[in-house]
Amino acid sequence: MATILDGKAVSEKRLDLLRESIDESGLAPRLATVLVGDDPASALYVRMKHQACERVHIGSINVTLPGDARTDQVVGTVNRLNEDPEISGILVQLPLPRGIDRDAVIQAVATEKDVDGFSPVSMGLLVAGRPVFSPCTPAGIMTLLAEYGIDPAGRRAVVIGRSIDVGRPMAALLLNADATVTVCHSRTRDLAGVTREAELLVAAVGRPRFVTAGMVREGAVVVDVGTNRVDGRLVGDVDYAPVAERASAITPVPGGVGPMTIATLMENTFAAARYQACGPSP
Ligand SMILES: NC(=O)c1ccc[n+]([C@@H]2O[C@H](COP(=O)([O-])OP(=O)(O)OC[C@H]3O[C@@H](n4cnc5c(N)ncnc54)[C@H](OP(=O)(O)O)[C@@H]3O)[C@@H](O)[C@H]2O)c1
Repeated sequence: MATILDGKAVSEKRLDLLRESIDESGLAPRLATVLVGDDPASALYVRMKHQACERVHIGSINVTLPGDARTDQVVGTVNRLNEDPEISGILVQLPLPRGIDRDAVIQAVATEKDVDGFSPVSMGLLVAGRPVFSPCTPAGIMTLLAEYGIDPAGRRAVVIGRSIDVGRPMAALLLNADATVTVCHSRTRDLAGVTREAELLVAAVGRPRFVTAGMVREGAVVVDVGTNRVDGRLVGDVDYAPVAERASAITPVPGGVGPMTIATLMENTFAAARYQACGPSP
């Protein structure tokens, strides 16, 4: 039976350590979230991020804009937060309402405050192998693997999905960690043939139980990023029980990747505060 990669337990431990580091630092990290519109799921995610901030003694503010805000208003808000010396990190909650130019908003976030790691500069640095801030979900996955002593170096890794928040940065992080990486997407031919090669398989598809046991190599490490609502329950992209029979290690949903994402956001925000106070760490 597979080892369960317990993101909840690991994130709790890391948040406790982070709170101690913040208390000892004498710094006052502060996260600003920007929420546009009244999507209940987005509002919930923002609330969870503020709760995590409170737990680790990171200050936080939220700026809410109406759903019919214009792109230049959202960009203006981001620019004000860029210039505010009290703010260490900025997170624009995605998805943005239709009609707002997401790329323009993401691009407006100053690199030294880009704790989500989505701006083109952050992405470019990540792909160049010298990341400043890496997107929280894939970076949290790397931390989780490290906590369980799973080193991607030399492994054949397959990532299903190529979004800017998960698939692409996941591939870059795995490559930076010396894995041999293949990225799959909706145009990939013989997907199961590719995924069966994977010693490390990351599923970020957004389709419930998409990855079946027949797609998984015996002994693979399987990371399930998916968060799909099915009959009111949270279900991953991996058909958990049969896949767990074949895998050597697997993340559960919930309690796997999700908590690591939030913990990483907190770590990135503290790193941003340190960066602004002292310059880049060696
Ligand atoms: N736990 C967390 O903290 C966390 C964070 C972020 C996201 N998520 C979850 O992770 C999942 C993925 O999120 P995302 O933002 O990456 O989603 P996304 O932007 O919708 O991307 C999904 C990717 O899956 C690919 N895909 C879709 N159908 C496919 C198929 N039949 N075969 C192969 N590839 C296929 C798409 O390919 P194309 O590019 O060709 O369309 C796309 O690249 C969602 O369930 C989301 O809720 C969880």
